[in-house]
This record gives sequence, C-alpha cells and structure tokens, in this order.
Amino acid sequence: MAPLKKVIVFGLGSHVKIIKEICELNNIKILGFISDKKIKVKKKNGLKNLGELNKFLKNSNQKNFSIIIGIGENLLRKKYFLLLKKKKFKFAKLIHPNSQISKTARIQVGSLVNSGVTINANASIGYNCIINTNSLLEHDVKIKDHCHICPGAKIGGGSEVQQSSLIGLGANVIDKIKIGKNVTVGAGSTIFKNLKHNSTYIGYSKKIK
Ligand SMILES: CC(C)(COP(=O)(O)OP(=O)(O)OC[C@H]1O[C@@H](n2cnc3c(N)ncnc32)[C@H](O)[C@@H]1OP(=O)(O)O)[C@@H](O)C(=O)NCCC(=O)NCCS
Repeated sequence: MAPLKKVIVFGLGSHVKIIKEICELNNIKILGFISDKKIKVKKKNGLKNLGELNKFLKNSNQKNFSIIIGIGENLLRKKYFLLLKKKKFKFAKLIHPNSQISKTARIQVGSLVNSGVTINANASIGYNCIINTNSLLEHDVKIKDHCHICPGAKIGGGSEVQQSSLIGLGANVIDKIKIGKNVTVGAGSTIFKNLKHNSTYIGYSKKIK
C-alpha cells in the first residue's frame, strides 16, 4: 500500500462503490471526485464533487493526495489513466485487506485488488488494473496495464494477459498461455491456447469476433 492516506476518485462508474469500501477498510480518506466534464451536483454516491479536472488542477496541490480511476471499462479507464499521468497525478494502489498477496508479487500503482484475491509468487500486475473478487493469479503470471480480471477468474502459472484485456467472471486460463491485447474472454470460459489481439472468445477458446 502506498503511504498516501488521502485519495480522490476520477469518474463515477459503479466501480466507485468498491473503491469506497477498500478505502474505508484501509483508513484512507476519499476527498471527493473529479471528472472531465462539469457536473452540477454537490455530492454523488456519497462523494463530494471537487469539480472539473482542469479547474481543480489550478486550485489544488497534487502532492497532498493520490488519485484512482472509478471506471470499470478497460479502454475508458486507460484513456483517463494516460490523461491524468500526463497531468502529473500520483496514482493510488488499493488492496483489500482480505486478499493474499505473495511477498514476491509486484503490483503497480493505479491498480485495485479486491476481497478474496490470491496472488502467488513472482506474479506481476501492471498499472491501472482491476483484480476483482476471489480471482486467483498463480505464480509468475503477468497481467499487463489496464486489464480487468473479473470475479472468480483463475489464471494458471506463467500465463500472460496483455494490455486492456478482460478475463470474464469465473473464466479459467491454463498455465503458460499468452492472451493478446484488448481481448475479452467470456464468463465461464476455459482457455487452453494463446489468444490473438483484439478478439472475443467464449467456451473452450472458441473465437466469436
Ligand atoms: C463474451 C461476451 C463479451 C459476449 O458478449 P456480446 O458480444 O454482447 O455477445 P452476445 O451476448 O451477443 O452473445 C453472442 C453469442 O455468444 C453466446 N455467449 C455469450 N457469452 C457467452 C459466454 N460467456 N459463454 C458461452 N456463450 C456465450 C451467446 O449466447 C450468443 O450465442 P448465440 O449467438 O448462439 O445466441 C459476454 O457475454 C461475456 O461473457 N462478458 C464477460 C462479462 C463479465 O464477466 N463481466 C464481469 C464484470 S465484473
């Protein structure tokens, strides 16, 4: 966990509910949310509206907090991660206390690990990922930036999931597999061969798009 104890949230997807809970459990204060558009309400989902990004930047000291993106959709979360990185924001890393993470695993900032997750030896997780409830990442797994490993998904030892891919609810990926960039693996699928970039698979590695 990064030493920063204050965060702000960018955006307001339903993913924010998970962020709020993990922050509470870690005693991290959420100062409020910002967005790229002007939103008129003072509060939304219990979070104070800190205003539109550029205006907020003029009046705030970015050393006093870190930021986390409250958007579940990978490509949108990637877009805003790159924008906020350009604007020199520091990103938070949020880890649910009820997760098991090997001391030799590495997790980059901007990523969130939810309840019940197990991350085993020497696994690595890139920037801006969501590792969701009860998923399992075996030893030496590599999850690249902006991915979402959905609840209950299991990734076997040494497999790699490249940028912006989604491994659906309860899906299994056997060991030593390479999943390309921007791939969607459907819920409940079992993947036992390498998957090409920019495609969607269901069932037993069956390509549908
Ligand atoms: C794979 C997926 C992306 C396909 O979505 P889509 O492009 O909208 O496709 P459709 O719903 O039109 O389905 C296309 C066909 O695939 C089938 N299908 C869809 N998802 C499937 C799945 N996970 N397993 C098996 N078959 C599936 C549909 O029944 C349909 O079959 P049909 O043509 O015979 O009727 C989606 O169904 C899915 O599984 N997404 C993962 C979502 C998830 O895990 N979310 C968790 C968020 S926390």
